[in-house]
Amino acid sequence: EDHIAKSLPLRNKKILITAGPTYEAIDPVRFIGNHSSGKMGYALAESAAKAGAKVILISGPTHLQHPGFGIELIRVQSAQQMYDAANTHFDEMDAAIASAAVSDYRPKNVAAQKIKKNSVNLTLELERNPDILASLGKRKKDQVLVGFALETENERKNALGKLERKSLDFIVLNSLNDEGAGFQKDTNKICILFKSGIKKDFPLKSKKEVSKDIINELTLLLNE
Ligand code: CTP
Ligand code: CA
Repeated sequence: EDHIAKSLPLRNKKILITAGPTYEAIDPVRFIGNHSSGKMGYALAESAAKAGAKVILISGPTHLQHPGFGIELIRVQSAQQMYDAANTHFDEMDAAIASAAVSDYRPKNVAAQKIKKNSVNLTLELERNPDILASLGKRKKDQVLVGFALETENERKNALGKLERKSLDFIVLNSLNDEGAGFQKDTNKICILFKSGIKKDFPLKSKKEVSKDIINELTLLLNE
C-alpha cells in the first residue's frame, strides 16, 4: 500500500489538461492559428497518467499521437469548442492545467463560401475569444489550477498579473530568450511562480522532464 502511494501519487485524481493551438475559421478552407506543437500538454498528460491520474486531454489540432493509457483525448478546433469541453468536465476534476496556446481573437463573421480575391485589400474583423482558464478560475471550488505564460517583456509582473486574474495556484513562466526554449522545440526553461509568492527556477530540460517537474509541484499541492 505504501509502495503504491509512492509510485502512483496521483491515483484517484482527475486532471484536465488543455493543449495545442486553436484554429479560428475565416471561411470553409482558411483559419487563424499559431505554431504551438502541443508537445508540452501531451507530455503533461503522459506524466500525470504515469503518476496514476485519470486525465482528460483537450487538444487543439496537432500532429501528435494519442498519448496512451489513462488519458481521454478530446479533439477540438476552435477556442470556443475548447472552452465548452473544458467547462463541461471541470466540476468533476481535482486539477486543471492550461497549456494550450489559445487564439485570443477569432473572425467576427465566418464566410459561408471561400473568400474570392476580388479586392486589393481585405480587412478581417476580429472579436475576442473567451478566456478558458479565467472561466475555470471563476468556477473553481477546491481544484488546483495551473496556467502558463510566455512573455517578451515584464515577465514577472505580467505572469503574476495572470496568476491573480485567473485565480491560479501557480503559473509556469516559459523563457523565450534562452536558446532552445519555446514553440516547436523539444526543450523548455521554466520558472514557477506560486500564489504563495514563492518562485522556483528550473534548468533547461526536455519537455518530458519539464512536464515531470510540473506534475511534481501539482502533486505536492494536491496531497497537501
Ligand atoms: N488561456 C486560456 N484561454 C484563452 C487565453 C489564454 O485558457 N482564451 C490560458 C493559456 O492556456 C495560459 C494562460 O491562459 O495558460 C495565459 O495565456 P496567455 O496567452 O499568456 O495570456 P492572456 O491572458 O491571453 O494574455 P495576453 O495574451 O494578452 O498576454
Ligand atoms: Ca493570449
